[in-house]
Amino acid sequence: ACSDDAPLPAPTPTATPTGWVAPASMSFPDGFVWGAATSAFQVEGSTTADGRGPSIWDTFCAQPGRIDDGSTGDPAADQYVRWESDLDLMVGLGLQAYRFSVSWPRIVPEGSGPVNQKGVDHYRRLVDGMLDRGLHPAITLYHWDLPQPLQDAGGWVNRDTADRFAEYAAVMFEALRDVEATWLTINEPKTTAMVGYAGTEHAPGLGDLDAGMASVHHQLLAHGKAVRAFRSVGGAGGIGIALNLMPVYPAEGAEQAARHLDAAENRLYLDPVLLGTYPDDAVGDLPGQLGADRDAFEALVLDDDLEVISSPCDVLAVQYYGVAGIDKGGSWLQLYPRSPAGWQQVHAEGLYETLVGLRADYPDLPPLVISENGTPDPDPQGQIDDPVRLEFLRTHLQQAARAVDEGVDLRQYYAWSLLDNFEWARGMAQRWGIVHVDFDTQERTPKASARWYAGVVAANAVA
Ligand code: NOJ
Repeated sequence: ACSDDAPLPAPTPTATPTGWVAPASMSFPDGFVWGAATSAFQVEGSTTADGRGPSIWDTFCAQPGRIDDGSTGDPAADQYVRWESDLDLMVGLGLQAYRFSVSWPRIVPEGSGPVNQKGVDHYRRLVDGMLDRGLHPAITLYHWDLPQPLQDAGGWVNRDTADRFAEYAAVMFEALRDVEATWLTINEPKTTAMVGYAGTEHAPGLGDLDAGMASVHHQLLAHGKAVRAFRSVGGAGGIGIALNLMPVYPAEGAEQAARHLDAAENRLYLDPVLLGTYPDDAVGDLPGQLGADRDAFEALVLDDDLEVISSPCDVLAVQYYGVAGIDKGGSWLQLYPRSPAGWQQVHAEGLYETLVGLRADYPDLPPLVISENGTPDPDPQGQIDDPVRLEFLRTHLQQAARAVDEGVDLRQYYAWSLLDNFEWARGMAQRWGIVHVDFDTQERTPKASARWYAGVVAANAVA
């Protein structure tokens, strides 16, 4: 249940609710890496080229009514074809890194069994193109495009999918063994679990909470198995997982509900990866908890699973979009302005709280990366002048810099997204790019925010 009641006062524009005021300019440490992010299904198009198999998102898009504007993954932003000019575009903006994802069904079209060398070659060329241009690769292995044959066998509800993932991941680790990449195993396991399996808005659209819980565990297991595969291949780069985190604020008297919602939204993913335990308060019947069958969830967790899941990582990647509020009864509250995305309550200081909170709560925290952060344009037709995004990025980077000033070990930042692209159930009608794409011509035009961001990168400072 959602409530639009706003029991807390709105923040003032000049100071944060805690009274913090940004200095005129804030520097980032030497060697800080600046980039932008995309994912395969959202930008590539060419969904049947070079032996690619079908993914659950191809299937989902083909079902009437699933995608607002009826669009599909083809042509999206046509990056499978236009990758070289997109790399040049990034160089032109002075970016230092590109986070993209590998499409699993291009590499293992059947989900298991034969490797499609043409798919591997595509990503080798892309990465070589990046290295030639001095761009650091951040490579996500799973950004939601599960091979359809694996879904036919249960998808993430089926434990075997974790093994299939580790096998596919090992193919990519071998192919790029020499590359100093930042590897990210699974993108936002929470979204897949809660929106795709428990919910119906994302593929595969099951609407089954117990399936969602099973997918939580099996995605985390897949992550752990991939980390172990990475170590045994001996890849040159580092590896971690990309988690979407959000601070939870209680209305008066709702502290316990907020703790439970924090367990369900954040600690359910952080604790197993960083501590090797599941929180004991995420699942249950109390306000803020996931009302799933707790015994069924616990029965999925076999003897060594948590040890595998907590295999040491080199980075933790944080995706930050906003915050949640909750009342005593467990209803979500709107405390801060919503972006055109609807689900996004914009509160930049929540990023600072997330970063310093991680450091306080997890003693063995690896270095942090912000692998996504951004907001959509209010105009679905697209715009070049995007003051709302520019201000969003500016205020969030100030909060990131604030955390760094307080000693948080943050190493990289990726704006979501490099390009306007296929925004899942919203189709092509919700634009998140710092670069505008004309979907009739595929012409790219940097928005005002991209030109401003280029200045941040050049100065290694936010003003
Ligand atoms: C997170 C997802 O990883 C990304 O694919 C999506 O486009 C953005 N959030 C915006 O919704």
